[in-house]
Amino acid sequence: MNRLSSRPLRWSGVLVFWMLQVLGSAAVAQTQPPGSMAQRVAVCIACHGREGSASGAGYFPRLAGKPSGYLYNQLLSFRDGRRSNSDMSYLLRNLSDAYLREMADYFAALDLPYPAGVRTSDASLETLERGRQLVLDGDRQRGIPACVGCHASSLTGVQPDVPPLVGLPRLYLASQLGAWITRDRHAMAPDCMARIGRNLTTADVNAVASWLALQPMPADPKPLPSLPRKMPLDCGGPT
Ligand code: HEC
Ligand code: HEC
Repeated sequence: MNRLSSRPLRWSGVLVFWMLQVLGSAAVAQTQPPGSMAQRVAVCIACHGREGSASGAGYFPRLAGKPSGYLYNQLLSFRDGRRSNSDMSYLLRNLSDAYLREMADYFAALDLPYPAGVRTSDASLETLERGRQLVLDGDRQRGIPACVGCHASSLTGVQPDVPPLVGLPRLYLASQLGAWITRDRHAMAPDCMARIGRNLTTADVNAVASWLALQPMPADPKPLPSLPRKMPLDCGGPT
């Protein structure tokens, strides 16, 4: 039983590895793999999916419809070592800025519905309430601004480079906040998320990630064109 059920998983691992090799070797040769953009990003979809996760479980973040400046910054960051993930860095090594920008624009322009699904959580009501407070109000005494002050009250992100916090798996959210605390993730200077992350305890990270992963997508899931107020801290970016 176990042997049979582990087989498809092992094969999908082999397939992804092979695709990484193909994209990687093309990248060495010409900094731009051959084929149309839709063909070239097939390898990305193998891990990220087209629409992201319906249940809030799993790990891979959705790409479709995120602000293009944000996606571009992340691709630069994986390539240049500000973010670490061995598959991502391997895939993007040797790709030019112009090509990364093209891929970012491609995913940003994808207008796909979010998958319908029921999101559940085993977090306590107290934890979820703490998460809700931090996201909506922050904790002024501890130097934590409200997340909605930058990520928008809809939590759908803001053009050009603030990402959405809805529609992401809990594990992914917690891991990213943890990576800022352990200094494994860096954004362009000034790195506002590093300042905020370092004021969060492990319990805060669990609370915000649990609450965020439970939120349904708003009727309009698109990032806002701009924020109604100035951000509480300055954030960097090349865009
Ligand atoms: C083998 C699986 C795999 C493949 C293939 C893959 N990715 Fe990823 N990608 C990941 C993982 C895992 C993460 C999260 C890494 C982390 O924890 O920081 C990620 C993160 C990202 C992010 C950051 C998302 C965010 O919200 O910050 C972007 C952008 C991205 N990938 C783009 C791509 C593109 C473009 C391709 C195709 C060229 C691709 N990925 C192929 C596994 C993959
Ligand atoms: C001052 C503005 C600001 C505030 C306040 C803020 N953020 Fe962010 N956040 C950003 C920016 C800008 C980025 C993109 C950083 C980068 O390019 O890597 C980001 C990225 C993130 C990411 C990564 C998303 C992904 O797809 O990988 C998470 C998770 C996150 N923020 C959570 C939070 C939480 C939780 C709070 C509240 C406790 C918060 N942020 C408050 C500006 C802010």
